[in-house]
Amino acid sequence: MKDSSAGVPFSIPYEIAVVRPLRQTTLRERENALKAAYYNTELVPQEMIYVDLKTDSGVSSLSMAQLSKLIGVGPLESGMEMAPEGNRAFVSLSEKFQKIFGFPCVVPVAQGRAAERIWAKLHVKEDAVVAGNMLFPSTRFHIESNGGKVVDVIAEAAHDLYSAQLFKGDVDLKKLAAVFEEHGAQVGCVYVELCVNSCGGHPVSLGNLKEIKAIAGAHKVPLFLDACRILENSYLIKQREPGYQNHSLQEIVNETCALADGCTMSALKDFLVPVGGIIAMRDEANYQKASVQNFLNGSQPPSVAMEAMGVALQEIFASDSYVTSRVEQVNYLWRRLKDGIPILTPPGGHGVFIDVRSFLPHVPAENHPAEALAAFIYHISGIRLAKGPPLAPSQTARGVELLRLAVPARRYVQGHMDDVAEAVQYAYSRRDEIKGLKKVEKPGRSRFEPALFAAL
Ligand code: F0G
Repeated sequence: MKDSSAGVPFSIPYEIAVVRPLRQTTLRERENALKAAYYNTELVPQEMIYVDLKTDSGVSSLSMAQLSKLIGVGPLESGMEMAPEGNRAFVSLSEKFQKIFGFPCVVPVAQGRAAERIWAKLHVKEDAVVAGNMLFPSTRFHIESNGGKVVDVIAEAAHDLYSAQLFKGDVDLKKLAAVFEEHGAQVGCVYVELCVNSCGGHPVSLGNLKEIKAIAGAHKVPLFLDACRILENSYLIKQREPGYQNHSLQEIVNETCALADGCTMSALKDFLVPVGGIIAMRDEANYQKASVQNFLNGSQPPSVAMEAMGVALQEIFASDSYVTSRVEQVNYLWRRLKDGIPILTPPGGHGVFIDVRSFLPHVPAENHPAEALAAFIYHISGIRLAKGPPLAPSQTARGVELLRLAVPARRYVQGHMDDVAEAVQYAYSRRDEIKGLKKVEKPGRSRFEPALFAAL
């Protein structure tokens, strides 16, 4: 073979070293499980699930190197407490994170929402306006609970479920400029979520981020990122944005972070750990405040979690092949479904989203079509789907109804994806049988608890 030949590429850059057996359940068993769970698939016990696409958060497989950290000396290390610099895991994670993402100050936390809670306390003052692109509900919650107001400036394409626009997470720059015109000095910051979860996992382009930075900079307002899906966003930039095809993911990650004043990040998604997150920033004063607040909130991660995050960073950035295989698996499932099933286009980074109104046009919104479809698919296949994050107000206003197939990273193989595609196709061929659900109210049950249903 000539030296210049690249040979045949590896499509999956890992092999399975440890497996967890799954029991084949029967239709009858699943019918009983559904009834016991009041037709809410989220309440079906884990051991009754075949492929679980409820979330991609905290459910990816660990690597051997991560596992050996978890069972090695890690658990014997003391925590960060008030002196993180004296903790080996903290120092090692911070160094790796600084090098890869380019932020000089790093505060490890237990989860993404813990990062948002601290970030909002530092940056959101009473009556402040935060311009964002359909931010995740927990981000909105923390902004609002600090007295701030979120103004959604995502571009209209995010609401067109079938638009071919490649960057449907982009901000509408005219809307952003209008927010500054209307609210002036009240605008506290701009917050951009990468690969926007609520609208289909759609990416934000670097071209758009540069323009956002220019507008925010002109008003002397910081730009922050929700970077929990930065890897998928970077991969989709490489695939779709002119000029980036020959860039490595590391270069795209660097260019993305260089535009931001800081970020919050849940490490449970892209960064392959069951617990962990990061707040990163550029100024020392805020770093000190965030560190103390993290200590007071009790949201510091254990040393083992920081070690596992550090290993994941090393493994992920050793080559582009892991991220490629992760997004391409989602893409494979999308391609299996795109002809015939109403799914959001183009494919997103972490999941496939079903447009439930088009799937079940005969089931009105008051009969909970998304939950009814999830229950039907569980019944026929044992596969769990769920609605995903609560819809943004702008989606609810448009009557959008989604069912998310969130693909956990590094956990399932192509056969699982094929079974999922077949189950969804089978459900579509029998969609007339899906009649909907009605809510069951139980005295004393709070509205925050998972809803209970009965079949119609
Ligand atoms: N930001 C985004 C975009 C998210 O998707 C999530 C969580 C968070 C922040 C909060 O992070 O869970 O570590 O506290 N998303 C999960 C999901 C729950 O299923 O999409 P966390």
